[in-house]
Amino acid sequence: MGDIHSLDHPLIQHKITLLRDKRTGTKEFRALVQEVAMLMAYELTRNLPLRETTIETPVATTTAKVIAGKTLALVPVLRAGLGMLDGILNLVPAAKVGHVGLYRDEKTLQPVEYYCKLPSDLAHRDVIVVDPMLATGGSASAALEVVKRHGAVAPKLMCLVAAPEGVERIMREHPDVQIYTAAVDEGLNEHGYIVPGLGDAGDRLYGTW
Ligand code: PRP
Ligand code: URA
Repeated sequence: MGDIHSLDHPLIQHKITLLRDKRTGTKEFRALVQEVAMLMAYELTRNLPLRETTIETPVATTTAKVIAGKTLALVPVLRAGLGMLDGILNLVPAAKVGHVGLYRDEKTLQPVEYYCKLPSDLAHRDVIVVDPMLATGGSASAALEVVKRHGAVAPKLMCLVAAPEGVERIMREHPDVQIYTAAVDEGLNEHGYIVPGLGDAGDRLYGTW
């Protein structure tokens, strides 16, 4: 069964508060999204398997640990997911990156897919779908479906702010998916925005309101 991991590190919580504040401008918002994504990636990679290898230090031969197992593929959901990408790549610079383009129709709230370019070896990687907002869950569910169709097994979902409605939908439609979020908010308003949320993540990242 899928699970939700609320990442409550004090630095993450502090920066999420700054992101929520409507006085935070585009430049600071963009920097904060990257910082939170990097901190979340640190938590998310906490249990990566290790193996021993032999190396020579300038002083002696020794065994030391390196990361083992599957390497990562990051899949930001365009547009807003792109804002998190560089923050995560700071920690895992060798990760492959795929892109899924989706926007939410303003009236129906249904996701509309307009782009997809993914690494060919998703079946052999740990796949993390990245999108700051999990509102109705329509976009994340569609993105998870796309990566699974391309071979991803039990991908993870990383978001900044989630609504309970979105969390329930992902757990129902993708029971194999672990969700990592910095906050689970009260719910959705009549326009499908997360309350209290942080507004429209894409517009705040790119200044397009
Ligand atoms: C936002 C957000 C998610 C989606 C969440 O994207 O980045 O992809 O809404 O809503 P949902 O859970 O109800 O589907 P948006 O549609 O605003 O597109 P954008 O990133 O291009 O601005
Ligand atoms: N998309 C956003 O960017 N913000 C919300 O609150 C909901 C969907």
